[in-house]
Amino acid sequence: MDFNIKSGQPERRHTDCLILPVFESGKSPIINTKLDKSCREALTNILKLGDTSGKVGQNLLLHNIPGINSDRVLLVGCGKESEFNDKIFREVIQKMAISLNNTGVREAVCYLTEAPLKDYDNAWKIQQAVMITVSSRYKFEQFKSNLDKSRNPRQELKKITWIINNPRETGKAEQAIKIGLALCAGLQIIKDLANTPPNVCHPDYLAKFALKLAKSYKAISAAVLERKDLQALKMGALLSVGQGSAQPPKLITLEYRGAAKSQAPLVFVGKGITFDTGGNSLKSPSGMIGMKFDMCGAATVLGIIKFAAELNLPLNIVGVIAAAENMPGGSASRPDDIVTTMSGLTVEILNTDAEGRLVLCDALTYCERFKPEVVIDMATLTGACVVALGNFHSGLFTNYQPLANDLLNAGIVSGDKCWQLPLTDEYHRLLDSNVADLANVAGPEGGSIVAACYLSRFTKNYHWAHLDIAGTACRYTGKDRGATGQPLPLIAEYLLNKCK
Ligand code: BES
Ligand code: MN
Ligand code: ZN
Repeated sequence: MDFNIKSGQPERRHTDCLILPVFESGKSPIINTKLDKSCREALTNILKLGDTSGKVGQNLLLHNIPGINSDRVLLVGCGKESEFNDKIFREVIQKMAISLNNTGVREAVCYLTEAPLKDYDNAWKIQQAVMITVSSRYKFEQFKSNLDKSRNPRQELKKITWIINNPRETGKAEQAIKIGLALCAGLQIIKDLANTPPNVCHPDYLAKFALKLAKSYKAISAAVLERKDLQALKMGALLSVGQGSAQPPKLITLEYRGAAKSQAPLVFVGKGITFDTGGNSLKSPSGMIGMKFDMCGAATVLGIIKFAAELNLPLNIVGVIAAAENMPGGSASRPDDIVTTMSGLTVEILNTDAEGRLVLCDALTYCERFKPEVVIDMATLTGACVVALGNFHSGLFTNYQPLANDLLNAGIVSGDKCWQLPLTDEYHRLLDSNVADLANVAGPEGGSIVAACYLSRFTKNYHWAHLDIAGTACRYTGKDRGATGQPLPLIAEYLLNKCK
């Protein structure tokens, strides 16, 4: 989709659709006397009729209003003026996008960006609006065979012009479109990868994807470590998770170079379990549905690298993906096995379904070689995190509070929120094993915290944060089943702040 920025008054615009905000009071910051005069008060009369309450979600599509040069006017409910905030702005844009998607509109001029919003500037509004309108049109149809018959014959929405009536901000607004589109490019690959079924998207598919991504940008390079390399590195934990599958495990690394070599990289680590059966600690049939999404962390790593490369961010970024398929069977690991991790610590595997932490611990040890500024891992790690925080916050854990503060703040600004949970000694003790250095599970109480404590044993040599994205990265069942692309919006905001 195409976006641009313009300024000016609505009555003059020739467009398929003029999009105007209306509040519950029946007032609109845009439908001023000038606009109303040119249509002989048609718009204020319609508002007086009460056909739209101005509530969020109540949009009204009008045609052929006399005196207005547009074919249509879409009045978009924005709720109470006094309650209009960042969250409602996003919701309003989402509802506008849904309304537009149900019409034949090919291009529209949108004044929602002119609805007054304190604490957030026009660039923020534009970036959000671009991301939301593009995302609202996302479909995963690669595996549908009868697409042509079901295709909507309507014209596609091709272009939206956002109105900014403060000429001093157009430069920033145009940059915001670029950022929004880079975000969309990242979100697209995250969603496509995560939605791809696990018989197609296995560790080798992720590896090939990473190599292809590296080929398409000069600033990106990628490398794939195969089973024999992992053996040489003594990654006993990662290897144990992959040993039950016909698809061998891999460690995939990507490097994006946007700054001087001397600048320490930001390292992102992703859990890349392309399917999680639970292994010999087998999941129930219903508990297994959606476990193709257990590589959302890995997909996000690829999305982050893509985002950075699209914008030529002046940062060095490393991506590390621990890829494996967790299968049961005769060659799979057992509960009671003890493995030796790359760090030298031995781990008693008490539950083969706690495989995320096993693949991640070796990847996290591997990160030391990059001499990172920070390491942030992203993993659909625990069902307990979904119980604790639902779909609205990722779980955040850290050994370095300033990093948590940066992420919490980036979460609020981007709307892709996280919530910090503790990593105190009491939980650590639950991981004691009487035969190995530590066990891979405890609980079930405090499951997400215990999992994060386990990871923290492998991150002592650098600043680290862990995002448990089990509740936010995807919807496992139902009509929204699919990847959300989170936490890319959160990380993108974090990266942009790092560039300032
Ligand atoms: N991938 C799952 C976590 C998960 C479960 C995400 C449900 C989304 C929905 C992870 O590998 C797992 O199985 N975790 C176990 C840990 C337990 C065995 C300590 C869990 O959450 O049940
Ligand atoms: Mn599992
Ligand atoms: Zn898992």
